[in-house]
Amino acid sequence: MKRNRLYNDLAHLWPLFDPPEEYAQEAAFWRQALREKLGPGRHQVLELGVGGGHLLSHLAADVQATAVDISEGMLAHSIKLNPGVEHHVGDMRSVRLGRTFKAVLIHDAISYILTEEDLRATFATARAHLEPGGLIITVPDWFRETFKGTSVDHHTRTREGKELTYVQYVTDPDPADTTIETIFIYIIKEGGQVQIEQDRHITGLFSLETWLELLAQAGFETEARPYPVYDDDDEGYLLVGVLK
Ligand SMILES: C[S@@+](CC[C@H](N)C(=O)[O-])C[C@H]1O[C@@H](n2cnc3c(N)ncnc32)[C@H](O)[C@@H]1O
Repeated sequence: MKRNRLYNDLAHLWPLFDPPEEYAQEAAFWRQALREKLGPGRHQVLELGVGGGHLLSHLAADVQATAVDISEGMLAHSIKLNPGVEHHVGDMRSVRLGRTFKAVLIHDAISYILTEEDLRATFATARAHLEPGGLIITVPDWFRETFKGTSVDHHTRTREGKELTYVQYVTDPDPADTTIETIFIYIIKEGGQVQIEQDRHITGLFSLETWLELLAQAGFETEARPYPVYDDDDEGYLLVGVLK
């Protein structure tokens, strides 16, 4: 089964899969951390793994943003939604824009980093784009300590005459490694036709201790703030780090 189709040949589903308005509650936590750590002003900020720019759409008025993603299909959504933002294709593990920012934001895209080595590379990217005192904010979808094991979830959403129902099955096939697996079944109803597609996503699973340790090794002094935004009251942490 092909991987990450939602960000490639099925990227057209993204605004229906997880609409921008769903991100308002999360954005409030990011806005608060930015204001608290950077003070007033419309600061220069870099988002790595911006996806469709749904989170960023709630922050774009507060910051001067530059955005990077590995998928051109996802960037196309963000370009449409966030016209004032400069966009680049790039891999967060290696991209170098040759400039620095006041903050580097990595929303749920950080979950696509699968090994400690790649997390180190990603934090080195953040560091290369920050002055001392700069901020990193990131939010892994899952932590080893709070991962509940196999789960199934489903949603139906409608927009502009198209209906998407998806079933999401999450599991940890090998608890000894640093990844979990999510299978999506998409049922797309449009123009009197029903189409079914499947997709597989492999994402990282690390302990909170590992996140804090790797961020410390990269030079960030990091706090894990409660992030009570998930369905089913799943626990999460917003990691807010300052470069020493
Ligand atoms: C869940 S989506 C992000 C959605 C985004 N938070 C939003 O508000 O629309 C995850 C994104 O991570 C991107 N991604 C995955 N691995 C990446 C990498 N190594 N470098 C840059 N982007 C990456 C994918 O292309 C995808 O757009």
